[in-house]
Amino acid sequence: MSERRWDSALYEAHHGYVSRLGEGLLCLLAPQPGERILDLGCGTGHLTQQIAQSGACVTGLDSDAAMLRQARANYPQLRFIQADGQDFQIDAPCDAIFSNAALHWMPNARGAAACMARALRPGGRLVAEFGGAGNVQTLYDGFCAALREFGQPLPASFPWYFPAAEDYSALLEAQGFQVLAAQVFARPTPLEGEDGLRQWYTMFLGEHLERLDPGGRERVLAASERRLRPTQWQDDHWVADYTRLRVVARLREAP
Ligand code: BEZ
Repeated sequence: MSERRWDSALYEAHHGYVSRLGEGLLCLLAPQPGERILDLGCGTGHLTQQIAQSGACVTGLDSDAAMLRQARANYPQLRFIQADGQDFQIDAPCDAIFSNAALHWMPNARGAAACMARALRPGGRLVAEFGGAGNVQTLYDGFCAALREFGQPLPASFPWYFPAAEDYSALLEAQGFQVLAAQVFARPTPLEGEDGLRQWYTMFLGEHLERLDPGGRERVLAASERRLRPTQWQDDHWVADYTRLRVVARLREAP
């Protein structure tokens, strides 16, 4: 994954919806007792645990030490390994790979797909969901406009990988997958609390706030809120303009 460092406490406190909303994906995975399953980008391990409850033998993989510390504290009975999702190997091929809200942090998507193909047994399945084309564009644009308003530098490059379904399907097919379903859909996501938008920026674009002094930080956050309030504030909460790319694929058997 990218070199970013996560604040796992902030993540647990304000972004529990990430794993909650990923629960639907578990139905598509349909883990079976005894299956070997890799949870790629497992974060703090909540979905890893739900996979384990099916009786599958699951391993959580994440690149971030703080996330893994939290995952191990949450679920000491489970196996977690630290590795870069764009460059990893596992000791024995698995039956399925599951990944929720993680692949958009891996700009080397080809590397990640090649590793997933190597990690699966022939016929093994991939069930993944992450940001698709257009994901959080309104939130990002609002933040950049606020930075610009105060003469602050913009992020040097777009921080995430949000592909279109056709592009990601082609990338998987080139690595030996047969794509069974790939769809981008809007999933407007309520953010918790009156400060939900600030928490989101602090969690996911925090490095661009950290270099500001406290006053500058406050001005950028307040300006972002002011810009987005007309479209992203509903009743009593903020709504993030998430789109998801949901993919189900299987690794082709050798010809
Ligand atoms: C997402 O889950 O789509 C996401 C979350 C934070 C930043 C970017 C994308």
